[in-house]
Amino acid sequence: MKLVQVALDKDPYPIYIGSGTIKNRSLWQRHLAPGPVLVISNETVAPMYMDSLKRGIGNREVHEAIIPDGEEYKTAVCWKRLIDHLADMGATRDSTVIALGGGVVGDLAGFTAATYMRGIRVIQVPTTLLAQVDSAIGGKTGINLRQGKNLAGAFHQPHAVISDIDTISTLPEREYAAGLAEVLKYGAIRDAGFFHWLDANRDTINSRLTKVLVEMVQRASAHKAAVVAADEKESGERALLNYGHTFGHALETATQYQQFLHGEAVAIGMVLAARLSERIGLCGAGAADALQELLSHWNLPTQIPAGSDAQQLFDLMQLDKKAKHDGLRLILINALGKACIYKDTAASDLLAVLKDQ
Ligand SMILES: NC(=O)c1ccc[n+]([C@@H]2O[C@H](COP(=O)([O-])OP(=O)(O)OC[C@H]3O[C@@H](n4cnc5c(N)ncnc54)[C@H](O)[C@@H]3O)[C@@H](O)[C@H]2O)c1
Repeated sequence: MKLVQVALDKDPYPIYIGSGTIKNRSLWQRHLAPGPVLVISNETVAPMYMDSLKRGIGNREVHEAIIPDGEEYKTAVCWKRLIDHLADMGATRDSTVIALGGGVVGDLAGFTAATYMRGIRVIQVPTTLLAQVDSAIGGKTGINLRQGKNLAGAFHQPHAVISDIDTISTLPEREYAAGLAEVLKYGAIRDAGFFHWLDANRDTINSRLTKVLVEMVQRASAHKAAVVAADEKESGERALLNYGHTFGHALETATQYQQFLHGEAVAIGMVLAARLSERIGLCGAGAADALQELLSHWNLPTQIPAGSDAQQLFDLMQLDKKAKHDGLRLILINALGKACIYKDTAASDLLAVLKDQ
């Protein structure tokens, strides 16, 4: 088992990564608060992993709340149901919420824990690759409103993150690949060595070899942990994690969130951001092709769909929340492994990249 620390000044916490961690009794003994436990999961994940988790927890008062599967359930209605569940079971400040699932469950369960009695303990047990390397780490929790995604939320750091690599074996192909896009992002923005390691292990990563996955998740988690520790509330360095995301969000919006998983849109966005970086001379030639080649090898999309409206994507990018009031701020790269915030993108360069497919 590997260990990564999220070195926050106040309340640092561990991330455990390995095979079978879900049922590791000593981890649970170390991290559960003394009171009753509520495990929040969904209809897909619970049948697969709830029993193992409960075996790991052992002799405790454990309650379960199972929500339907889907982003459309990351809502105030589900949050209210969960808060009521905690109150009905008599949860106190001594209780623990466990989030067993992907990012949707993690965000919703985290927000439930953040808001019940002004904050009780949450342990994240992420079961998607994306959740293991990204959403379970860093304390961002929230729900979607009719007016937009993640509009209500809170920063609430977990007490521990328990990533069980065995859960990755049951992930659908597309979900796995979408997680790989977020993994590759860390290489692109802050670690060329990691990028080359991913490239060299591309096939064993494709076949989900446990040993390689443990190292991959450990290295990616360490990147997320380092960024969070340096910038807990997302004012500086954490913004670099949005590499590929402004392009990606525009694509997701233009396709009404129907065509791409988030990670797939980010894959296209990372290639476009690299192409723009090369075009304006920020980055030497070759980075975009290298990114594109590896992402394609993992069956991720790397180009804007034929027939897309470049002007519409351009307009949507101006609306992105990262555009702020002082114009579009894009995360671009100086080289593979080195990202920067760039504020002076000319409209003509951006449009050219959006058209040049
Ligand atoms: N809090 C953050 O910092 C942060 C960061 C990035 C994304 N997010 C949020 O994360 C969410 C996306 O997370 P996601 O990509 O994990 O999606 P998800 O939670 O919807 O999971 C994807 C699918 O995989 C299924 N699944 C989960 N684990 C499985 C397993 N082990 N085997 C088989 N199927 C499994 C789920 O039931 C679901 O159908 C979004 O709501 C996004 O806003 C949050």
